[in-house]
Amino acid sequence: MAVNGVLSAADVVADAPVIPVIVIDDLQTAVPMAQALVAGGIRMLEITLRTPQALAAMEAIAKAVPEAVVGAGTARSPEDVRAAADAGARFVVSPGYTSSVGQACRDAGLALLPGVATGSEIMMAQADGWDVLKFFPAAAAGGAPLLKAWHGPFSEVRFCPTGGISMANAAEFLALPNVACVGGSWLTPAKALAQKDWGAIEALARAAAQLQR
Ligand code: 3PG
Repeated sequence: MAVNGVLSAADVVADAPVIPVIVIDDLQTAVPMAQALVAGGIRMLEITLRTPQALAAMEAIAKAVPEAVVGAGTARSPEDVRAAADAGARFVVSPGYTSSVGQACRDAGLALLPGVATGSEIMMAQADGWDVLKFFPAAAAGGAPLLKAWHGPFSEVRFCPTGGISMANAAEFLALPNVACVGGSWLTPAKALAQKDWGAIEALARAAAQLQR
């Protein structure tokens, strides 16, 4: 997939088996962290809007690491979506779904992975035209058995389960026919970021990139 041009949600989930869910506390770590992830084979990067540095981190990565594709996570409002677009985000991930977040993504021309955890939420997202969805919080809400159950009534929907996934259980999710990729924070542990251990992050990315699906 070319990383230039407008991305669809299908492009975002197709690129690698894992989308890292990233929390940036120190802006100085953003660019070398992104370089380490790209070196390990992971280029779709979800920077969560959970810290004051998040938008500046997106901007810095978008400018300095052209091989990376910056996305915004934890988007909960149209304002979050607009701020992410201005910071250079190319896709948006939301922990839940509202039509106003969906509309803001359409207006900004950004791909969206809307968060769902129930059948009704899937139906609401589908009614607005979204069919590649984040399943959050995956492990707590029912894990692989729930995804298997959803495959009956929602066989056309593809999911990116996130929340409680690690190298230990990623394969169980990736083996399911309705799982396109998984998301997780394990590629960028707070300790490795604080210690600027880029080798560790590259190794975690490389192992994640090699997961089968
Ligand atoms: C998310 O925002 O998607 C989750 O907090 C990531 O969950 P994890 O830390 O269990 O990977």
